[in-house]
Amino acid sequence: MVVLCRGGLPARPQSASDNWESRCNNPEGKGPKTLAGTGIAAQAVFVATRFEKAFQGLRTTGASVSTHEVVEALNRHGREEAELLQRYRRFIEEAESPGARYLVQLILDDEQRHHRVLEELANTIAWGWTKGVPDEVVPVFPRDGEDGALRAETRALLRHELRDRTQLRRLRRRLRSYGEAPSWGLLVDLMRLDTKKHIDILRFILRHASRR
Ligand SMILES: [Fe+2]
Ligand SMILES: [Fe+2]
Repeated sequence: MVVLCRGGLPARPQSASDNWESRCNNPEGKGPKTLAGTGIAAQAVFVATRFEKAFQGLRTTGASVSTHEVVEALNRHGREEAELLQRYRRFIEEAESPGARYLVQLILDDEQRHHRVLEELANTIAWGWTKGVPDEVVPVFPRDGEDGALRAETRALLRHELRDRTQLRRLRRRLRSYGEAPSWGLLVDLMRLDTKKHIDILRFILRHASRR
């Protein structure tokens, strides 16, 4: 997929030192542009084009058909997410309700991270363990022995998160009896979901840091 910025400039680096994002976003030294004839903000499109690096990886490494298919699937999902990101951005710019804008900003923050992780996964899979791998990849989890300090710190953080989980449950009840505004309960519930995620991550690290 070759994506062009407004004015037909290729939306990817021309050389290592090419400041392509600002050139793409701002080819005439003015504000953000939309892609000619699409109405899609150029910013959203060069988010999508970071997948181009993954396709470059597939070509460089002569990847297998199944690797191509997985990277294609990640790219497809990434393209849909890029459109969604734009919709959320528009919502935040245009919605009159500050309450709705506040909540949707929380979604946008998550979606931006999802998008980044999709790109990093695509690059990790596409480039394999070859040289010239871009920086934006998921680092390998070390399995080469015990790391005592890492395990100790991870356990301490896990204890903290488990305490956090109990405290958030109490806080939720407390808000309810206090007579919460409807969105406060939602915000605490979202924190509880995040806490579950943090616990999952720390448990994963503990499991894998102990493998030999
Ligand atoms: Fe998402
Ligand atoms: Fe946490």
